[in-house]
Amino acid sequence: MSLDQLYRHLWSALAPGEVPELTGLAPARGPEWIFELVDGLELAAGSRILDLASGPGEHAVALADRYRARVVAVDPVVSQLADARRRAGERAISIAAGRMEAIPLAAGSVDLVWLRDALLHSGAPEATLLDCRRVLRAGGHLLLHSAFATGRLAPAELELLEADMHVDRAGLDAARVEAAISAAGFDPVRVEELGSELAEHYELADGLGSRALLRLARLERHPEILRERLGERRFRAMRGLYHWVVFELLGKLSYRTSLLRKPE
Ligand SMILES: C[S@@+](CC[C@H](N)C(=O)[O-])C[C@H]1O[C@@H](n2cnc3c(N)ncnc32)[C@H](O)[C@@H]1O
Repeated sequence: MSLDQLYRHLWSALAPGEVPELTGLAPARGPEWIFELVDGLELAAGSRILDLASGPGEHAVALADRYRARVVAVDPVVSQLADARRRAGERAISIAAGRMEAIPLAAGSVDLVWLRDALLHSGAPEATLLDCRRVLRAGGHLLLHSAFATGRLAPAELELLEADMHVDRAGLDAARVEAAISAAGFDPVRVEELGSELAEHYELADGLGSRALLRLARLERHPEILRERLGERRFRAMRGLYHWVVFELLGKLSYRTSLLRKPE
């Protein structure tokens, strides 16, 4: 492309408003879509669902309400479990401290394991997948929603995520996780590449991506002042999270949602 050709297209690319050619594509799917995958299972009321790595319990509540299910929320972080307990209210949700590599539930005791956005923290995806299989009844399902590193993620960027976000590269390794899924004996029911769709969805909904990018720019421009104001831990948690969001939008991290079945 000549310089002349380049400048014929360049500035209009940043003009306010829509670029018509970039519209009319399949809309970016949002978080609701993941539930639609589970809807197809037609879980009976009273089914037992494990929300593994539940965080503050937002999905445990949604799963309990949507499927009239008994839910167990498991996470190792005590403050998140306290939030989950508060959020659960009177619902049939029990809360347990535990780790995805050694789930504190009996074998064959669960109809669905919901493992959303947490394998990034796992240094042992093989153990996690095996333990998910163990707690499922025969014919039960695992909903695995996870981000994976793509070839666009530079080594230094992966190191930053490991240092700032408690990320373990093992859990971001798509080939390793796929091998662990097969080795654990799961049958794939449906596998969907979401790529950057969720991040696009949140950007359109409330500007989350732009917010992350602008805050990251400020952190990077004034690291010493902001380290001092925020404290080292908060500074790094913010820096890690903002990078994560921007990496999603840049296709350096790519989400995949898999519905997997434990054979009869
Ligand atoms: C990004 S949050 C996702 C929370 C929730 N699943 C969601 O989708 O919103 C990751 C969660 O994994 C939890 N976690 C980290 N290491 C874990 C482990 N070894 N076993 C289980 N959960 C873990 C964290 O405490 C955190 O709540």
